[in-house]
Amino acid sequence: MMSAVHPVPVITIDGPTASGKGTIAARVAGALGWHLLDSGALYRLTALKAMGSGVLLDDEAGLARCAAHLKPQFIGETVLLDGAEVTLAIRAEPVGQAASRVAVYPQLRTALLQLQRDFAQAPGLVADGRDMGTVVFPEAALKVFLTASVVSRAQRRHKQLIDKGFSANIDDLLKDLEQRDSRDMSRAVAPLKPAEGALVLDSTSLSIDDTVTRVVQAAQERGVV
Ligand code: DC
Repeated sequence: MMSAVHPVPVITIDGPTASGKGTIAARVAGALGWHLLDSGALYRLTALKAMGSGVLLDDEAGLARCAAHLKPQFIGETVLLDGAEVTLAIRAEPVGQAASRVAVYPQLRTALLQLQRDFAQAPGLVADGRDMGTVVFPEAALKVFLTASVVSRAQRRHKQLIDKGFSANIDDLLKDLEQRDSRDMSRAVAPLKPAEGALVLDSTSLSIDDTVTRVVQAAQERGVV
């Protein structure tokens, strides 16, 4: 992940679904001119690959094989899987639910580990997910845990889906988020929780700009940038 001589600085941003991590991570990476890892996309891609190749979502070895052979390409906002564009397909709710289901399997998580660490390239990486600070980048220079109330997260997810042209119902989304939170937080391997020493930010009543500013300030205070 890091060379002892020239460690690549990493900022991790973990948190529950629809907490705004993706937006904040992208904005912080943009502000610093650093690379970005959307680790949730890798779980979504694995789920999509399994669904498209007849691998059952409880077949741990089959899922791990899908993850091990994942050769995703991220070109700006565009995501390709085996050469086909899946940018929108991986954002659909059923794929998110499937990603949360397959993410409980240790073999699959291990298969994705090196792929994630390879994103740590100079001048730095902002990594967003559930276990970036706890498991994937335990030596990260700054760890952020971003939360927001479940109601405001459901409202954000609703807006995101409608903006992307998907249909969505706020009550269903609330139920879906609660289910997903409890599965992500209670799984045995790499459960969602703040890393030790993490800066915990509740973005319920913070604007995107304010949240980005807090993260960049914390990075400056800790001498990361
Ligand atoms: O952040 P997201 O909604 O795109 O993530 C989809 C699912 O992938 C999420 O419900 C749990 C799983 N995930 C994970 O287990 N670990 C990560 N680092 C990122 C995502």
